[in-house]
This record gives sequence, structure tokens and C-alpha cells, in this order.
Amino acid sequence: MAVLLTGGAGYIGSHTSAELLGAGYNVVIADNFSNSTPETVRWIGQLAGRTPALCKVDLLERDGIDRVFTQYEIDSVIHFAGLKAVGQSVQAPLMYYHNNITGTLNLCEAMKKHNCKRIVFSSSATVYGTGTNVPFREDDPLSATNPYGWTKLMIEQILRDVWESDHEWSVALLRYFNPVGAHNSGLIGEVPRGVPNNLMPYIAQVATGKRPHLNVFGNDYHTPDGTGVRDYMHVLDLASGHIKALEYIKQNCGVEAVNLGTGRGTSVLEMVAAFEAVSGMRIPYVIQPRRPGDISICYADPTKAKVLLGWTAKRGLEEMCADLWNFAKNNL
Ligand code: NAD
Ligand code: UFG
Repeated sequence: MAVLLTGGAGYIGSHTSAELLGAGYNVVIADNFSNSTPETVRWIGQLAGRTPALCKVDLLERDGIDRVFTQYEIDSVIHFAGLKAVGQSVQAPLMYYHNNITGTLNLCEAMKKHNCKRIVFSSSATVYGTGTNVPFREDDPLSATNPYGWTKLMIEQILRDVWESDHEWSVALLRYFNPVGAHNSGLIGEVPRGVPNNLMPYIAQVATGKRPHLNVFGNDYHTPDGTGVRDYMHVLDLASGHIKALEYIKQNCGVEAVNLGTGRGTSVLEMVAAFEAVSGMRIPYVIQPRRPGDISICYADPTKAKVLLGWTAKRGLEEMCADLWNFAKNNL
């Protein structure tokens, strides 16, 4: 039996693949490499001492994903595959709805046909929309402010409806906060295409000299230093959260939404200082206007993850920055 990881060659999927292989799972990766490369899968194999099965498949091709279930005995799925750039989703909403929603529908059809009823889905803290009541809890009101966020909300609903139609399904909706860092080996990490959207990959590119300075989007928020506050967690902690979720859905049917975050908020300038301290590099920055759509403060109440899954994030800011720097100086 194997676990299928859609989007398993991507940033979070590759770290999760390595952790799963290390924990003894058989892993099948299905990816179209729209935002990743097959080389990553080789590194995963090197790290784990065991290579995952790899299928170059686009979830938009129904027959392709169906064939994966025919070829391998899959008993559960972790569904990472999707487009994830918020700004791009505003410019190209149809592409986002088509890729993320149609891809999920095709996956669920194939799962249903092959009697595979366990799925862990990569949702996001973005489903709390413009909420201001931090820390965010799973039963807080949900909303979206851009097409990317809507796809996450819609897929959560689709999976709830699938379960309503058949209570043998077991669904974990993992709402990630801000994953950062890289594998401590330095072999895998995040390699953004073009200008990074997210804070830590941008900082890494300033540190390696690829960009002259960081743009800090707003210093007039109601936060201790005026810059935006987020819940940053190490990508390896996030990966281990998937193993816990997988263990949980193997034992329990139903639908559970679970926050994966540390429960601690950190500002942009605190993150810059943490990275500078660890790397010894200076990160010059320029204060810019607020980025449209950004909220001021976002961090998780991680209680449910602890109680239900037995998961808590273990690594601190220093380790997140050290592992990012270790990866960046060798790879970027
Ligand atoms: P990523 O882009 O690195 O990985 C996604 C992978 O999916 C890529 O390898 C890409 O090639 C693949 N893919 C995309 N569309 C596909 C399709 N139609 N068929 C097959 N493969 C396809 O992104 P990531 O950071 O690893 O994120 C994984 C998931 O987690 C995404 O669904 C993302 O929305 C979600 N998420 C990410 C973050 C974050 O900050 N990174 C936060 C919250 C949620
Ligand atoms: N920021 C900067 N400069 C940059 C990039 C970011 O100042 O160049 C600031 C942002 O304004 C924000 C903070 O750094 O205050 C974090 O921004 P990110 O873009 O790294 O992360 P977001 O919280 O905006 O969004 C990320 C993902 C979303 C996901 C969300 C979940 O991009 O897809 O985390 O919490 F939904």
C-alpha cells in the first residue's frame, strides 16, 4: 500500500515525501512540474535512502490520474497540487479555479472509482479571510479575499460534501499558517520562480545578493513595530503534521479542519533581525506602502492539532532561518 502525494515534488510536498519515506511509508508522487522539477525527487530519494515512485501527471487530465490508481495500490492521498500565488490568482482567476478545483474534482473521481477514501488536503490560513480575532480557531467564520483563497474554501466544501454523500470517507483539511525554512540537509528547499511573493524567500535572495533590498510592506499596522505579524513554522514541522494527520484519518472517518501553526506571531522586522543574527548577513530594507489584501496579524490557535493529532511545532525561528540560509547559500 502507498500514499499518493499530488504536488509531491513541490516545496511542502518534497519535505513531506522525505519524512514519510523515513517513517517507512511507500510514497507515490504525482506532479506536472508546473512549479517544481524532477531533480527534487532524486534529492528526496537520496535523503531517505529510498526513492519514491514518480508519475508525471497533470490532475487536469482525468485519465492520467486514474491510471496512477490503477498502477499503484493507493490507500490514502495527500493533496498538495495547486497554484498558490495570491496576486497571480487575481490576474488569472480562471486558471486558478480550473487548476485547483477541476484538478481536485478529477482526483476525487479517481479516488471514488478506486475505493480510496482517505485524503489530507492542503488548505490555508487564508480561509480566515480578513478576520481580526487572533488567534484563529477552526470554528471561526470563513471567507476569502482573492480567487486563490476561494479555491481553498471551495475545496474544503467539496470534500465536506463528498463525506456527506459517503460517511466512509476520512478527510483532514489542514490549514497551514506560514511554512518557511528548508530541509536541514540543505538538499531541498523552496526555489521560487521569478520574483518571490513571500517574505522568507525574498530575504534569502537579498542575502545571496540577487536582490538589493527587501521591500517591507507597511510599518503602520497596529502591531508592536508596525509591520505585519505572521505565524511562521518550519517546513519540517509542517511535514510531520501530515504524518500525524495521515495516522489520524486511518483510524477515524469524518471531516476535520485543523490549524497547523505555532501559535506565535512574529513581525516582518523581527524576522529580518532573526535572519541577520543567524546568517551574519545584513538585510537592507525599504519601507513601502501596505500590500493590497494583507491583514495586519495572523496566527493560529494550534490547540486542536495538539489534542486531535498529537502534533505541535518544535522548531524555533533560529532553526527556520539557519536551515533557510544553509539551503539558500548553496542553491540560490
Ligand atoms: P508548490 O508550488 O511548491 O507545490 C505545488 C506542486 O503542485 C508543484 O510541484 C506543482 O508543480 C504541482 N502542481 C500544480 N498544479 C498541478 C496539477 N494540475 N497537476 C499536477 N501537479 C500540479 O507549493 P507548496 O508551497 O508546496 O504548497 C503546497 C500546497 O499547500 C498548495 O496547495 C498550496 O496552496 C498550499 N499552501 C501553501 C502555503 C505556503 O505558504 N507555501 C500556505 C498555505 C497553503
Ligand atoms: N512581506 C514583506 N515583503 C515581502 C513579502 C512579504 O514585507 O517582500 C510581508 C507581508 O506584507 C506580510 C508578511 O511579510 O506581512 C508575510 O508575507 P508572505 O507573503 O510571506 O505570507 P502571507 O501571510 O501573506 O501569505 C502566505 C501565503 C498564502 C497563505 C498564507 C497563510 O502566501 O498563500 O501565507 O497564512 F494563504
